[in-house]
Amino acid sequence: MTSPQKSPTPVSRRGFLQRSSAALGSVALANLATERFALGASPGDTVKIALIGCGGRGSGAADQALSTSGSTRLVAMADAFKERLDGSLGMLKNKHKDKVEVPEDKKFVGFDAYKQAIALADVVILATPPGFRPIHFEEAVRQGKHVFMEKPVAVDGPGVRKVIAAAEEAVKKNLKVGVGLQRHHQPIYLETIKRLNDGAVGDILATRAFWNDAGVWVRSRADLAKKLGRPPTEMEYQMYNWYYFVWLSGDHICEQHIHNLDVIQWVKQGKPYDPTGKTPIVHPVKVRGMGGRQVRTSKETGEIFDHHACQYEYGDGSILFSECRHIPQCWSSVSEYVVGTKGNCNVGSGVITGANAWRAPREVREGHDAYQIEHNDLFDAIRNDKPYNEAFFGAYSSMMSVIGRMATYSGKEILWEDAWNSQIDVMPKTYAWDAPTPVNPDKDGVYSIAVPGKTITV
Ligand SMILES: NC(=O)c1ccc[n+]([C@@H]2O[C@H](COP(=O)([O-])OP(=O)(O)OC[C@H]3O[C@@H](n4cnc5c(N)ncnc54)[C@H](O)[C@@H]3O)[C@@H](O)[C@H]2O)c1
Repeated sequence: MTSPQKSPTPVSRRGFLQRSSAALGSVALANLATERFALGASPGDTVKIALIGCGGRGSGAADQALSTSGSTRLVAMADAFKERLDGSLGMLKNKHKDKVEVPEDKKFVGFDAYKQAIALADVVILATPPGFRPIHFEEAVRQGKHVFMEKPVAVDGPGVRKVIAAAEEAVKKNLKVGVGLQRHHQPIYLETIKRLNDGAVGDILATRAFWNDAGVWVRSRADLAKKLGRPPTEMEYQMYNWYYFVWLSGDHICEQHIHNLDVIQWVKQGKPYDPTGKTPIVHPVKVRGMGGRQVRTSKETGEIFDHHACQYEYGDGSILFSECRHIPQCWSSVSEYVVGTKGNCNVGSGVITGANAWRAPREVREGHDAYQIEHNDLFDAIRNDKPYNEAFFGAYSSMMSVIGRMATYSGKEILWEDAWNSQIDVMPKTYAWDAPTPVNPDKDGVYSIAVPGKTITV
C-alpha cells in the first residue's frame, strides 16, 4: 500500500472545499466557478461513482469501488456499446443491490457518453481501451473529479504528455488519482521492493521483465455483423476488436507488459513515488528492440505484433531486458527479476538470494486482493484528504511500453527524449461510427504491419 501523509483529523466536504479554495486563489476559483467541483468527501459522505467503459475490468473496478468502506453509489454509466453497459449494470445490480442507482437517463452510450457520466459523479472510473484514456482523464480533471483509471494511461507520446498535464492540474485541484497498476498495492511487491530500496541486493546491475503467454481474446467481424444485423463500419469493428489496433490498445507490449516494466521502473526509482509529481521519475535513456508476428497472422488480429524483446538502458549503465510474447505452447512467465552486486531478487515471488537472503512469509504472499486494496487506498485518500496521485508514474510506465513498441516497430535505437517529445499521434482525427480510422485493411481485409527498418515511429 502507498503510505501518503495522514491528515491529522478527517475533514468535512465543506472544510475541504474552504481549505482548497484558499490554496487555489481567487483567479483559479473564478475559472472553476462553472464546474461542478467535487473536491472531497468526509468519511460519512456518500461518494457518487460513474463508470466509463463497462467491460470486464471496468465492471470489476466498479464492484471494488462499491466494496470500499463507507457509503458509495454508482450513479452513472457510459459505454460505446449499449449491450456492454447493460450487461455490466445487471452484474453490478446483482452484487450491490442498494448501491446501484443508474436509471435509463443516467445510462450514456457512444463516443461522447463519458462527458455526461463524468458530470454526475464525485469519482470516475476510466476503463475503456487505453487509447481514450488521455482524453477521458483530461475531461474528468477539467470537471474536478477524482479518478481511478486503468493502465495503460496512454498509447503514444502526445497521450502521455496530455496525462502529465492533467495530472499536474489534478494536484492543483486537490483531486485524487489512482491508476490500475495494482502491484503497487500488493503486499508482496511492497515488502520486496522496500528491501531492494534499502539495498538488499546492493547496486542494481541488470533487471529482467516478462509477460510471455498464449495471448487473449479475438472478437470477429462476423460476430459483430450478426449482433448489428448488418456489416459493421470499420470504426465499429476496430472498437469492438480493440486489442488488435495500436490506436486503441498500443499493442500487447502496452496493454499487458506495462505491468512488468512498471515494476522495474518502481525498483529503479529507489524510493516511494511522490504524489505531487515534483520529484523526478527515473527512466531509461534509450531502448533497442526486435519484434514481429510469427503466428498472429489472421485478418482478425489487426496490426499488432505477437512478440517484442527490448533492451532498455538506464543512465547509471544498468540494463532492463524485457520480453513479451503472445504465442501458445512456448515458455510462459509473467515476472520481474533484479540482479545486484550483493544478490538477486525474484520480485513477484518475494525471494531475495545472496548476502541478505529473504523469502516473503506466507501472510505477505497470500490472501490479498490487490484490485480491492487499490480501491480501498484511493477511497481512503478521498475521504481523509491524503495526497494521492498515481498518474505521474502511470504515465512514465505507459511511456516504457510505448518506447518499446517504437523500438521494435522501427528497428531503431530510440532515445527517451525523442519518444517523450514525439509528435506522432496515433489517434483518429474525429470520433464517430462512420469516421475514418487511423489504419485500414486492404481489399482482402488484411492490415499492414510495421516493418523494422522502414516504419517510422518517432
Ligand atoms: N489492471 C489490470 O490488471 C487490468 C486487467 C484487465 C484489463 N485492464 C485494462 O482495463 C481496460 C479495459 O479492458 P477490459 O479488459 O475491461 O476490456 P473490455 O473490452 O472488456 O472493456 C472495454 C469497454 O470499454 C468500452 N469502450 C470502448 N471505447 C469507449 C469509449 N470511447 N467510451 C466509452 N466506452 C468505451 C467498450 O465497449 C467495452 O465495454 C484496458 O485498458 C485494460 O488494459 C487492466
